[in-house]
Amino acid sequence: MSEATAYAPADDDDAISFELNGRPVSLTPPSGQRLTTALRDVLGAQDVKVGCNAGDCGACTVLLDGDPVCACLVATHQAEGRKVETLAGLKESPEGSALRQSFLRHGAAQCGICTPGALVSGIALLRQTPAPNEAAAQEALAGVLCRCTGYRQIIAAVCDAASSPDTAQPAGTIGDPIIRLDGRAKVDGTEAFGDDVAPDAALIVKVVRSPHPHARFAFGDLKAYAARHRLAAVLTEADIPGKNVFGVIPPYADQPVFPKATALFRGEAVAAVVGEAEIIENLDLAHFPITFEPLPAAQTPADAQAANAPELHAGRARNVMCTGRVCRGDAASALASAHITVSGRFTTPFVEHAYIEPEAGFARKVGDRIEIHASTQSPVMDQEALAPILGLPLDKVRIVPTACGGGFGAKLDLSVQPFVALAALITGRPAKLAYTRSESMQSTTKRHPSDMTATIGATADGTVTAMRFEGEFDTGAYASWGPTVAVRVPVHASGPYNIPDYEATGTGVHTHNPPSGAFRGFGVPQSTVAQESLFEDLATALNIDPLEFRRRNALQNGEATVCGQVFENGVGISACLDALEPHWKRARAEADAHNEASPGVRRGVGIASGWYGCGNTGIANPSTIKAGVTADGTIILHQGATDIGQGSGTVIPQVFATALGVPVSALTLKGPDTDITPDAGKTSGSRQTFVSGNAARLAGAALRAELLRRTNAGADATITPGATLTVRDGSTTHTIDLSGPVDADGFVVTVSETYDPPTTPLDENGQGAPYALYGYAAHIVELNVDTALGTVELVKVTAAHDVGKAINPLLIEGQVTGGIAQGMGMALMEAFIPGVTENLHDYLIPTIGDVPPVETLIIEEPDENGPYGAKGLGEHALIPTAPAILNAIRHATGARITDLPATPDRVRAAIKALEKAE
Ligand code: FES
Repeated sequence: MSEATAYAPADDDDAISFELNGRPVSLTPPSGQRLTTALRDVLGAQDVKVGCNAGDCGACTVLLDGDPVCACLVATHQAEGRKVETLAGLKESPEGSALRQSFLRHGAAQCGICTPGALVSGIALLRQTPAPNEAAAQEALAGVLCRCTGYRQIIAAVCDAASSPDTAQPAGTIGDPIIRLDGRAKVDGTEAFGDDVAPDAALIVKVVRSPHPHARFAFGDLKAYAARHRLAAVLTEADIPGKNVFGVIPPYADQPVFPKATALFRGEAVAAVVGEAEIIENLDLAHFPITFEPLPAAQTPADAQAANAPELHAGRARNVMCTGRVCRGDAASALASAHITVSGRFTTPFVEHAYIEPEAGFARKVGDRIEIHASTQSPVMDQEALAPILGLPLDKVRIVPTACGGGFGAKLDLSVQPFVALAALITGRPAKLAYTRSESMQSTTKRHPSDMTATIGATADGTVTAMRFEGEFDTGAYASWGPTVAVRVPVHASGPYNIPDYEATGTGVHTHNPPSGAFRGFGVPQSTVAQESLFEDLATALNIDPLEFRRRNALQNGEATVCGQVFENGVGISACLDALEPHWKRARAEADAHNEASPGVRRGVGIASGWYGCGNTGIANPSTIKAGVTADGTIILHQGATDIGQGSGTVIPQVFATALGVPVSALTLKGPDTDITPDAGKTSGSRQTFVSGNAARLAGAALRAELLRRTNAGADATITPGATLTVRDGSTTHTIDLSGPVDADGFVVTVSETYDPPTTPLDENGQGAPYALYGYAAHIVELNVDTALGTVELVKVTAAHDVGKAINPLLIEGQVTGGIAQGMGMALMEAFIPGVTENLHDYLIPTIGDVPPVETLIIEEPDENGPYGAKGLGEHALIPTAPAILNAIRHATGARITDLPATPDRVRAAIKALEKAE
């Protein structure tokens, strides 16, 4: 990547010309216009993506005279007379074709928002070095951030681009590692994300936000302001036709679209302006008529629970939102009589999702309905939340999800949707909004900061007997998914172990911070840091090998979880630990040898386990899948699960096709759209493979049964798609009779099946069956610590994941590597501080140079409730990573890190404290 280029001074109205993808273009850009704006908004090059407009993420990488640059850092005038190439112009070149194919083969595109920038950077490298090595690939792509993949598949794709293996795809039956079905658009740069779909004539919405964590505010003359600036509308709470409140958990709904007079966190939307693009572009909101009166703010749970703290929400005394509890046996007595107990306090900060696609979308009025096209994880929830805000019946609101450039939980909540919907409703014109990176980071949900204390007891032979855990979670100004975190944490804080006497609580506390919400694990990654660190303490104190200590306590089939739930099959943690054993022995032996030779840079090897219940916790959680056959024999699958990069848009068709008995290529897919697809629930809680997968399995089986019935064929008959849909039964071929009435979807045969996991609510002691199944994992981390500097370098991660049945191993490896990269960020570098780290140069996430090789061990312990035995994986992939890193740092240095992230200063301070104590 070239150096960031400063804006060139230029006069307005200077006409310039340059070559774009081989054709001459001329335009008259305003002074200082970014090249990204010219390319996307003027020249229609929407294959160029915008992630930050600050040169941090590389999503907008283009070639300028052959060199990769961030187009957002180039003034359009600087392109004068030069040659600009984007993915659209490069993709058919020999290097472009080879690299796109390699990206697909290696699963290097997940959500796909970073993919054009990564491909352009890779193509520039391949032009110079047709067969690059790993170091060259890392250097060439150093300026491109990817939040999904963990980069390893991208590196492999770049290094392997020159090879041209047989790319014939298997049928897509479960177990086949087929290329993701939506991959082609991602590598072609034609995938349409939230900022790519609005009509040209759309009005632009810009949000006015509170600069204070807690403030009263009052407006001046909004009408005069709107008239002076020729705005189409200024929106405030007074313009909301329905209820000014939303929330993902209805009993806790507490967030206004715009507050009436008091803002509760920095970055909260207080008003919005709507106008023509050129007006809004030049509008300086510093002069918006609003005055703020800052008020005392409580920005830690301790401050928020102080006697004189301001109460954020009526009825939530001392700002406590809610507490979840799980109690089994008598933890206090069992701890008192344990041979040994260990205790600790652990803290973790806000973690930002940092998906590369900031929230974006547009809305338009169609007759008496509103359509919202936006990046989301939960179209039906969006519809249910927006209808009351807009004062419309549910069927007057249509949600059409765009491609989602990463979500990880935050795009479960509303962001741009109410603003664009209100703007479209009030002005009657299409209205568009794309958050800036800073807006995205200020105003959307985060991983809950946590403050956790725990005590665990064991017998002399290393059998864990009891555990107490208390976790306090900063849920920010509004509830969002805080209640889910409060409930999930005590259920999971035991880890996947047999602990007979157990007591755990999780409490959410409101503060004047951005709302905390869902982020890959719902609090479980935090509680696992505490539990797995204390397991390490126990193993060390009892002089038991850490892997063996975990295996001794691993939950088995037939044993009760801390909720009293007994699984007779599918408990896969022992199998994960067994699979890791040879890697553990090898890594520990190598660490011993390394440390003898290199005392200043110490090698450490750590292990940690994790588990995660798939789906909602003890409440209904259905998915419905619909499918049908048209009169010409086309098989159409309607699946409403949003694919946010994790691969549900491929896995669900694989399950359906297997149950129906046809290759995936025989299916025509219809994706999420609340007018077309039934509700497949939200993409959250690692539920889509399991819940929607089961609905797809049922739908496939039902359609198969109907087609076979129509031909009187036996159960083993083969359904053969083609110009005519036929059924082959032994030596007889039947043409299926597809005459008859056609329904509203155009089907002559249709099926719709729903699956809701068999769970029960938790009682007052947290006892019950909260999940129909769990997925299990264990990670080994090998790393080096420079003891003088406190820096940590990961060497390798070996990850064993019990997925029940691997429906698509290629996608599994991508999920695991991406989850590990996020766990690594959580462990070593990420801490969101409101008002401080609101961009991607102050808030650090792992780059391509940070993530070490990952070896994924796929374990299959089928669960009777999973589709063909399969379990979810999305959240599991990062849960063990951070504690495994902390345990490895401890193995390397003896230093125990209890406050995340383990930045060099903290690691160095812990080493120094240890040296002093010795
Ligand atoms: Fe790279 Fe999603 S695939 S950010």
